Amino acid sequence: MPNLPNKDNKAKYVQETFNSIAKNYDLMNTLMSLGLDKSWRRLAVDRSELKAGGKGLDVCCGTGMLTMEQARVAGSAGSITGLDFSEKMLEVARQNIVNFHFKDTIRFIQGDAMDLPFENNEFDCATVGWGLRNVPDIAKAVGEMARVVKPGGKVVSLDMAQPMIPVFRELYWLCFNWAVPAVGKLFSGNKKAYAYLHDSARVFMHQKELAGIFAKAGLVEARCTNLCGGVVAIVEGRKPAAHY
Ligand SMILES: C[S@@+](CC[C@H](N)C(=O)[O-])C[C@H]1O[C@@H](n2cnc3c(N)ncnc32)[C@H](O)[C@@H]1O
Repeated sequence: MPNLPNKDNKAKYVQETFNSIAKNYDLMNTLMSLGLDKSWRRLAVDRSELKAGGKGLDVCCGTGMLTMEQARVAGSAGSITGLDFSEKMLEVARQNIVNFHFKDTIRFIQGDAMDLPFENNEFDCATVGWGLRNVPDIAKAVGEMARVVKPGGKVVSLDMAQPMIPVFRELYWLCFNWAVPAVGKLFSGNKKAYAYLHDSARVFMHQKELAGIFAKAGLVEARCTNLCGGVVAIVEGRKPAAHY
């Protein structure tokens, strides 16, 4: 695939890419998911088992949409942290919560998913939405999420996946190959960025393989759930009681 950086320059490339599309990201996400992204995020937070008053972490939080879903569940006694390394995505995230009811329960931090600036066992759960395929070392990022979650807490990823139903799979990729460049054209000037989003989704590992990485990170009950026939998938695991 021509639009994928190598492992050494991936972080810089991805950071620049998201800085360049931050302003249009939310609209683009809604268009490309046909408005389903919100319900997928809700389901991911449901799987995180976050409770009212809970302390949640959202890694690769981008414009804060999944962070806000956590905050809705945790309510006014909750405490939610969104972390991302793109300052422009974080700028939009801070803007997005200005009129949000639970804005005071959220903090946004600039940081690296592969080196989380938190103590062991700090959070009740950690989520990551459409983030893992962008990090240079997925196992390291999953390991970090597992480290900062309390024993018994959940680590949950929501990301593009590999549809497995024959015919549907071929039709889906045909639509996808058409839709992402079309959205890229709509926001012209950013063709390279949209080409990256397209190509990184096409080559992203199968959801079962990602569940295997969760298990290798020491998470138990690791499993994946396909949504919309495997267009996206939730991959989750639980930190065992005496892991660290
Ligand atoms: C596709 S966006 C997802 C945004 C958001 N989670 C959502 O639900 O829409 C991916 C985000 O991951 C961030 N990201 C990629 N690699 C990262 C890393 N190593 N550390 C922190 N953030 C990273 C990007 O800056 C971008 O905001």
